[in-house]
Amino acid sequence: MKPFSKRMPRLGTENAFSVITKAKQFEKDSGIKLVYLQIGEPGFDTPKNIKDATIKAVNDNQTHYTATPGIPALREAIAKYHSQYSYTPYAAEDTVVVAGGKPIMFYTINALIDEGDEVIVPNPAYPIYGSVTEYLGGKIIPIQLTEANDFNFTAGDLEKLITPKTKLIIINSPQNPTGGVLTEELLEKIAALAVKHDLWVLSDEIYDRMVHEGKHVSITKFAGMPDRTVILNGCSKTYAMTGYRIGWGVTKNREMAKYLEQLACNDISCVNTMAQYAAVEALTGPQTAVDEMLKEYKARRDLMVSMVNEIPGMSCKSPKGAFYLMINVRKILDKLGITSAELCDKIMREAHVLILPGTVFGLYGDDFVRMSYVSTPEQIKDGLTKIKDYLLNL
Ligand SMILES: Cc1ncc(COP(=O)(O)O)c(C=O)c1O
Repeated sequence: MKPFSKRMPRLGTENAFSVITKAKQFEKDSGIKLVYLQIGEPGFDTPKNIKDATIKAVNDNQTHYTATPGIPALREAIAKYHSQYSYTPYAAEDTVVVAGGKPIMFYTINALIDEGDEVIVPNPAYPIYGSVTEYLGGKIIPIQLTEANDFNFTAGDLEKLITPKTKLIIINSPQNPTGGVLTEELLEKIAALAVKHDLWVLSDEIYDRMVHEGKHVSITKFAGMPDRTVILNGCSKTYAMTGYRIGWGVTKNREMAKYLEQLACNDISCVNTMAQYAAVEALTGPQTAVDEMLKEYKARRDLMVSMVNEIPGMSCKSPKGAFYLMINVRKILDKLGITSAELCDKIMREAHVLILPGTVFGLYGDDFVRMSYVSTPEQIKDGLTKIKDYLLNL
């Protein structure tokens, strides 16, 4: 057989999915049911008004191709939504609807990166930023998000990493996996550096509605940014619509918008039509279900944070956004002489709770395990009681 392309082995994956495969195998072999506290999936059903809009779209025969960048009503709704955070308002033509938030990583990095170009990527972070960068021949330059700094970095740290080869900075706020929110002050400084060094920014704002204290700030708030930023967002997390696969990119840069559309045309032609109609309802319909989900996530966060901090050797601060908790387990790792991956494996096999090692999100995640608070309060209590009992008896 002729070999695969040279770039293929450079493509990584989302190890959170392989952990689930391992867990399912463990459940099958042992007959034991695990408590899932690792999941990045909203713990609620899609709101009824959105499901009804999907069914209506099917009954109205909205079952054919649409224009590649999306139906006008959805693009207008997206533009209006992001204009509230931006230095200059967006128009429908600044938006490209794609199949989930993820493709915007693929398309943006594809549009920008040649062999050897450098991309500054937060660490720990969503693994696909780095995977796609390496696949396309780019070089990942990690910038550490530190617990002491509420999972922010400093503008000084960032400037030191910028070289003539730097083309793109990726930011994510609120963050997966840390729950950190980049401060407005830092975003302003990142913006100033992006303008000074003529850099692009990919701003992953998929958790923008999940800011538990204060209000979301987008880097596009600052002068010069809407033209050099691609915002990534979508319906998956906010509206509990992960299976609809609706996401989008937003940019004031005309050429970038054109390339995003062209990549989407080559890749998927257009996004599922009824899902687009559902997304219009999500963005323009009543937001009460979202408000209720957010209130509940906050209560679950508080429950999880207080229970985690009662477990000897585990500690975490209350995260400001998203629905994740990055828990420092360094003391336990040192005591047992194991890695965070080994600890999670033990917790799965012996305490019967599934959580993720911080290293799934990068090298700088090695002091941590990640849990998410999308699960029900009963599951959170059950899982954390099991982990506590297990660790106390070690
Ligand atoms: C930070 C971040 N960005 C993007 C995505 C992808 O979202 P989608 O499921 O819409 O592709 C995720 C999903 O977990 C995420 O955590």
